[in-house]
This record gives sequence, structure tokens and C-alpha cells, in this order.
Amino acid sequence: MSSLDDFREITQRDKPLAPYTWLKVGGAAEYFIEPRHPDELAHVIRCCHENQIPMRVLGGGSNVLVRDDGVSGVVLRMAGEEFSKIAVDETTVRSGAGALLSNLISQSVSEGLAGLESLAGIPGTVGGALRGNAGGRSGDIGQFVKSVTVLTAKGEQFTRSEDELAFAYRFSSINELAILEATFELQPDDPDEITRRMRKLWIMKKATQPLTFQSAGCMFKNPRGMSAGTLIDQVGLKGTRIGEAEISDRHANFVVTTEGAKSDDVLRLIDRTRAKVAEQFGVDLKLEIEIW
Ligand code: EPU
Repeated sequence: MSSLDDFREITQRDKPLAPYTWLKVGGAAEYFIEPRHPDELAHVIRCCHENQIPMRVLGGGSNVLVRDDGVSGVVLRMAGEEFSKIAVDETTVRSGAGALLSNLISQSVSEGLAGLESLAGIPGTVGGALRGNAGGRSGDIGQFVKSVTVLTAKGEQFTRSEDELAFAYRFSSINELAILEATFELQPDDPDEITRRMRKLWIMKKATQPLTFQSAGCMFKNPRGMSAGTLIDQVGLKGTRIGEAEISDRHANFVVTTEGAKSDDVLRLIDRTRAKVAEQFGVDLKLEIEIW
């Protein structure tokens, strides 16, 4: 039977996770493992499976809140370039899950391929974006997906095609442990025209969201037909501060953190927000971010 000792070269013990997340809070990972290529990743996963060690996969850390106690077991990060290759073949783009979504967008745009520019400004990796079907008012990533290659918690690899996948608002049916890569089908268009659309979107985002602050983007999903930001704004919570975490003055669905913030500050803000919105509007806000 293999053991985690076999992966000493790529393993760090008690590795603080805060620097890897956008909120910059929370504790350490018991084992932080950065496989160099997909085969090595599969080996690590099989080892953890055999030894019943819990695993989590970290993407760009833009939608994760790590608790102050940290995470027991293994946190996997697909940082190597083997996980972030992007290749264009006519109107199909293949991307490793570890690539930054912003890189996938800019490469597609420079090749004159339209579609993904509607996702401009969304942080994180392609894998993370697929997992939660990242998007905004003008579209989400799922609508462009042709296939997704995944690794299961037993280390088995397979590819699911478009008709075996379901995407909905901030939901994807991809529930395997790790996403390895995906292909996207895009539309040919004039690169200048695509860039113009992208700029417009970016200006709108900058005007309405606290993009220069430490945050995980929207904290809550929009309840059907409603806006979480408006609800939180209307209960008067904008600017509420607990410790070093604050409900953004600019957009009420964003929590921003400053130096010295604790994960617990953010969790208490989340609780207060949910309680207040439930009390005043009878709406149970559901988290968009993942809590580890
Ligand atoms: N609003 C307020 N007060 C606020 C914030 C918003 O009244 O503090 C109002 C706005 O004036 C607007 C409405 O709420 O009338 C909707 O706001 P916005 O246009 O900012 O969109 P959103 O629904 O809050 C969604 C996504 C964002 C995405 C934007 C733009 C969710 C939870 N959020 O925000 O995604 O960037 O649309 O496409 O679906 C994210 O998921 O992390 C995220 C930032």
C-alpha cells in the first residue's frame, strides 16, 4: 500500500491556506500537495483513497472561506503548467483546469473566438469556474462547454460530453473530486468587437463591485427572481463590520477583509446577514462560497 511519504517532494505540512484564498483568512492544510502532472495527481488521489485520507481540491481560492482551525487531510493544488495548457483548434478551445479563467478568456479573444468574454472579471481557475458554473448577467461558463475530463476520488479518469452534463445558475452536475480539463465551443468574431464588449462589461463591474478589495466575490446566491445584494442592502447591513471583515459599502453581497481578519469574523457576518434577511424578508439566503 502506498503512503503519503511517497510524495514528500511535493508535500508541505501545516501549510497556511490564507495566502491562497482571496479573502486571505483561515488556517492551514494538514497536507498541502502540489502534483506536477495529471498522472502524479491520480497517484496521490489513489493513495489518499487507499488510506482513507480526506481530500479537497483548491482552485484559484476565490470562492472559498477556510475556517480558522484549518483543514485536516490533504489539500491538492494543480499549480504546474501541465495543468494549465490552453490550445485552440478552429472554434474549439481546450483548457487545463488549473489555467486562470482570465487567461482562457484572453487567449480565446485574441484568436477571434467569442463567448467567454462575457465572463471577464471573474477570478479563479477554469476548474473552479466549471464546478460552480461561474457567470454573471450576460452568461455563464456552462453554456460553452463541450466536454469535461475529471478524476474521481478513486483516481479514475473519464470524460463527460456536453449531453452528460447539466449546468444551471451557479450549479454544475460535475461532482467528481477533480476536474482535469475541458473543451469549449466558441463563435468566430472580430477580436476588436469582442474586446469592445469585454471592456464595457469590465467598466460596469468596476462601478458596482469592490474589485480592488480582498473579497470572495458574491457571498450568497441570488434567490430565485431576487437579488441577494438588494436584500442585504435593504436590511441596512452595508458597512457592518465584525473584527476586520466588513459588508462592502459598494455592493452588499460582498464581504471584504483587511489585514488581521479572522475567518470567524466573516462567518459571524454571514450568520448576521442570513438572520437579518430571514427575519425581515422571510428569505433563507444560500451561500455561494464554499466553507472549508
Ligand atoms: N443592488 C443593491 N444594493 C447592493 C448591490 C446591488 O441595491 O448593495 C442592486 C443593484 O442596484 C441591481 C441589483 O441589486 O439593481 C443587482 O445587482 P448587480 O447588478 O450588482 O448583480 P448581482 O445580481 O448582485 C450578479 C452576480 C455577480 C456578477 C454580477 C454581474 C450573483 C450572486 N452575483 O450580481 O457574480 O458579477 O451579477 O453580472 O449571482 C459572484 O458570483 O461572485 C459575483 C460577483
